[in-house]
Amino acid sequence: MMREGAPKTIYRKDYEAPDFLIDSVDLAFDIFDGRTRVSSKLDIKRNGTNQAPLVLDGESLGIVCLKIDGRTLGADEYRYTNGKLTIDKVPDQLCFEAEVDITPEENTSLEGLYRSRTMYCTQCEAEGYRKITFGLDRPDVLSTYTVSLTADKDTCPVLLSNGNEVSRSDAGDNRHTVVWHDPHPKPSYLFAIVAGDLELVSDTFTTVSGKTVDLRIWVEAKDIGYCEHAMTSLQASMRWDEERYGLEYDLDLFNIVAVDDFNMGAMENKSLNIFNTSCVLAHPDITTDLGYQRVESVVAHEYFHNFSGNRVTCRDWFQLSLKEGFTVYRDAEFSADMNSRGVKRIEDVAFLRTHQFAEDAGPMAHPVRPDSFIEISNFYTMTVYEKGAEVVRMLNTLLGDEAFYRGASLYFERFDGMAVTCDDFVDAMQEASGKDLSQFRRWYEQAGTPVIAVETKFDEASGTFDISFAQRNPPTPGQDNKPPLHIPVAMSLLVDGKHQDLGEGEKERVMELTEASETVSFSGLSKKPVLSLLRGFSAPVRLELEQSRDDLVALIGFDDDPYVRWDASQRLAFEAIDEGTGLLAPDYIDALRRVLDGPSEAAMKAQLLALPTEASIADRHSQSGLVDVHKIHEAKQRVAGALGEGLREELTQILNKGMAASEAYAPSAAQIGDRALMHTALNLLVASDSTWLNTAREMYFAATNLSDRLCAARLVVHYGDDVHREEVLQHFFDRWQSENLVVNQWFVMQATRPTMSTVADVIALTEHAAFDWRNPNKVRSLISSFAGANPVAFHSTDGSGYALLGDAVRRLQSDNPQIASRMLAPLTRFKRYAHGQEMMRAQLTSIAALDNLSQDVFEVVQRSLSDG
Ligand code: BES
Ligand code: ZN
Repeated sequence: MMREGAPKTIYRKDYEAPDFLIDSVDLAFDIFDGRTRVSSKLDIKRNGTNQAPLVLDGESLGIVCLKIDGRTLGADEYRYTNGKLTIDKVPDQLCFEAEVDITPEENTSLEGLYRSRTMYCTQCEAEGYRKITFGLDRPDVLSTYTVSLTADKDTCPVLLSNGNEVSRSDAGDNRHTVVWHDPHPKPSYLFAIVAGDLELVSDTFTTVSGKTVDLRIWVEAKDIGYCEHAMTSLQASMRWDEERYGLEYDLDLFNIVAVDDFNMGAMENKSLNIFNTSCVLAHPDITTDLGYQRVESVVAHEYFHNFSGNRVTCRDWFQLSLKEGFTVYRDAEFSADMNSRGVKRIEDVAFLRTHQFAEDAGPMAHPVRPDSFIEISNFYTMTVYEKGAEVVRMLNTLLGDEAFYRGASLYFERFDGMAVTCDDFVDAMQEASGKDLSQFRRWYEQAGTPVIAVETKFDEASGTFDISFAQRNPPTPGQDNKPPLHIPVAMSLLVDGKHQDLGEGEKERVMELTEASETVSFSGLSKKPVLSLLRGFSAPVRLELEQSRDDLVALIGFDDDPYVRWDASQRLAFEAIDEGTGLLAPDYIDALRRVLDGPSEAAMKAQLLALPTEASIADRHSQSGLVDVHKIHEAKQRVAGALGEGLREELTQILNKGMAASEAYAPSAAQIGDRALMHTALNLLVASDSTWLNTAREMYFAATNLSDRLCAARLVVHYGDDVHREEVLQHFFDRWQSENLVVNQWFVMQATRPTMSTVADVIALTEHAAFDWRNPNKVRSLISSFAGANPVAFHSTDGSGYALLGDAVRRLQSDNPQIASRMLAPLTRFKRYAHGQEMMRAQLTSIAALDNLSQDVFEVVQRSLSDG
């Protein structure tokens, strides 16, 4: 639903405490096919002394009846416009009652109460509660909820809400009622209900203090066999939070519900997490290795929110990173403990450096704690999440583990049951550690990716090594001059492949940069050392540091920091790709050969061998000029081919060993690593010689898990001839058409085929019976992966790729503004490209001209068009 009037910008500096608070909320849902009646009873009291009118949030609600203290209000006693219900004169304490009608069956925004296949469910974060009933829909109003649900026994046998079940009863007419009560006061965004035909997998968890918690995963009957991995992941998360943070679960029941139509990955509603099926179901037939790891980390993320988000919540939505940045950091550490720590770090850094850096360099750049927004849904961004997590990681690095955990404990204790700010978080860290974090707080204020230019000098005679650092932070929209940041830079020095003692036996030192420029010196070195800098990617910055090829080769071979090794191999790959001929310097091949022959774990070998993504090459190029995606694609393919050729023997061996593996599938770190290496090997071999596609085809038909099957199918579909492509696509669809999540992968594989004719294929696929514009997973699989992960086709020189995305946005934007707005991202960065800028801009202009434009899409389009 469009709000009437011009979209309004909301500023962080305008925050005011609410005029009213609500102690308790009583809700009753009477669910009928085609209409749901919501009755609410709010215990409201004035907060402060002003005589402000009572203003409640409520969007598109069909008012049946409003009462104050039992008396029905006449139509002249309230105003209901633009999503606000205003009642002028109210006492300091009152009981407000409302009966409203809503139509979940017609709700396509997937926000508020909506219907997905066999169930009704809610999504309230950030501002969806107001589409259900009247309330103070802001995170700093915490209330205790009691919820009664009534529905048909056959279509809705399962009725869930937050907290504990208090009663169930017969409601006559083949209907039943279940009542829930949540003892923990919470903001409206954490409220949830689910009503539908669901089955359950249950288990228990015994907390450290011996309490038994019931764990229930609710899914459609057909998915009942796919819940085990989520259950184990949940139990592992609960244990981890006890061990690492001393946090013990605070209710006797924890529910997860899987729904197929969901805008995001998952949602942390108190004790009733709601998940996109793609983030909870798992089975070797329907889930890739990456998928398994995704389920594990999303389950953990939402569980961890029970403390970082629910028990301690956000004062206002500008503080979103308070819960999201911290929780992403927590789930990343959990995944690192569960799998290979080094590889997890590399994956996260690769993701941040391509996607968050690009966001920070584009028209949507904003600080981790934004200063303003029109639509908060647009600010669930890489910056708030990923950079926000890096900011918390830097605090951990600066404080050390012990002080960091003391700070976290102080934070959880002091602010329990409260709605607080990012400053409150840093205050707790500062107090617990005694460390001055005043300059560090600038990380929350400054948008943009800081650049650190590094120069080194070695004096042979004295054995002194000087490192000078100059930091700068380039301008971003609305922020021109930025004072220096407090940046932790972890470093080490290698001589003859050995990490040197930097004093007191320390092989690594964390330098704290605070000035625009500064120099450090190390003396007593026998030779010029190789600099190992930004170890563990200790800060989200770009480094400008010239290092010789010999130094890079030494880092790949001898550094003990996985990130530094990987970064060095990426830099050699960048050089090879930029060089453009596809002729590889022998030192690069030799370095990789030594990696393959060496003792590193398979997952790490795969990372060192993998070429940078086209997106990360583009990001690099955008630093010094315009991006030519077609040139990048061709240059990368040539280098891949040359690598496949140069390492043929080693790669063949890896592949043969992998294909002969007979162990039963397990999503273990070891097996996942082995498969990743085998897949990388096959990719490079196919790039070097297309006869390897025969092997890919064999692997496809022999595969016993989705990872192998998909890797093989992808190669045949992307690079094979028409006959084999059709054969595999047809077979894949015939075999897996009943599995929604697998069909999504079938769409992705076609949408990412790197050739211009993909545009026509994608358009044709939007007509396929398995495609559905209303299902976000389908739209993401076909449209977003085309626009975001297929630069060659999206940037087709005739502009047809841009038109495809523009059409999709125009088609979706009023039905599902959140999905439309997110989809738009690839068009907004048009200024980066050497070709097509005008055609991309034309799509944005045409979207801007729509007369029913949603404010989500309006904000993104407007920022993009007015940039620079
Ligand atoms: N609170 C969010 C879900 C959310 C985001 C709801 C935006 C409404 C609007 C949840 O905790 C979350 O962050 N989910 C992520 C996955 C997570 C592993 C980073 C998601 O949904 O992508
Ligand atoms: Zn989250």
